[in-house]
Amino acid sequence: MTDALDKRFGLNGKVALVTGGGQGIGRAAGLALAEAGASVAVVDLNLEQADQVAAAIREQGGQAIAIRGDVTEPGTIESMMKQTTDELGRLDILINNAGIYPFSDFLETSDDVWNRVVDLNLTAVFRCSRTAGQIMADQGGGGCIVNLASVQGLKPTNGGLVPYDTTKAAVVMLTKATALELGPHQIRVNAIAPGVVPTPGTRDVLSETEAVSVQRTPMGHLGTAEDVANTILFLASPAACFITGETIAVDGGYVLT
Ligand SMILES: NC(=O)c1ccc[n+]([C@@H]2O[C@H](COP(=O)([O-])OP(=O)(O)OC[C@H]3O[C@@H](n4cnc5c(N)ncnc54)[C@H](O)[C@@H]3O)[C@@H](O)[C@H]2O)c1
Repeated sequence: MTDALDKRFGLNGKVALVTGGGQGIGRAAGLALAEAGASVAVVDLNLEQADQVAAAIREQGGQAIAIRGDVTEPGTIESMMKQTTDELGRLDILINNAGIYPFSDFLETSDDVWNRVVDLNLTAVFRCSRTAGQIMADQGGGGCIVNLASVQGLKPTNGGLVPYDTTKAAVVMLTKATALELGPHQIRVNAIAPGVVPTPGTRDVLSETEAVSVQRTPMGHLGTAEDVANTILFLASPAACFITGETIAVDGGYVLT
């Protein structure tokens, strides 16, 4: 990167925390942020996978730690943020990526499924943002939060995802409302609404639905985890310094159809 480009897109000296960073979009996000110079805390339920991502970052010459944690547990949120600031020095970038998308027909959706989806896809995003926002404000302000919403939160195109669609729509509003309050601290809050992206989490469902998803995408192909990570990187970079409260669809036009 030239010095001029580095000023616009570089993340040297910044510290990022990625929830659900052990695989899929979270993994791609951690690697991309590290490539731009950020130190990265990779948080995941699965420590082995988080460890692999952190090791890959260190092999590229970056700095990373792996943390095992369930972000639906408030105690975990406190401890993972503390470990990040203790070991990496500060916190500048939070990527609220961990999410689940269990399929069930609406009339058969149990309270348990509803509660599990709300706890992770919405409440954990709120709690992680509140804790990270406080740390960023206490550091003197400045920072950014990127939330993973979904095109399904903008328009419910696939059935069987009522709790998911509802939480992702709520994440779009959480993003705007949080951006409004954190703006004075120079903390930016944005969201990304990916279309269908092959990841370990979507592998099973895609084996049956890939053709339909491709057909519904004006660009005629599915995106990749790296496509989403590129937009996360942009939103975290100095180049996006005046963007807040936005949700960017990364979907090849899926939401237009
Ligand atoms: N893949 C897609 O097509 C797609 C489309 C739109 C939005 N999204 C959103 O992007 C995000 C990532 O999706 P993905 O497909 O990469 O997911 P994935 O299922 O492949 O990976 C999710 C990761 O999060 C971790 N995780 C799950 N619960 C956790 C918890 N309670 N605490 C900590 N870590 C936890 C998992 O162990 C896993 O490593 C999700 O929020 C998802 O809703 C994905």
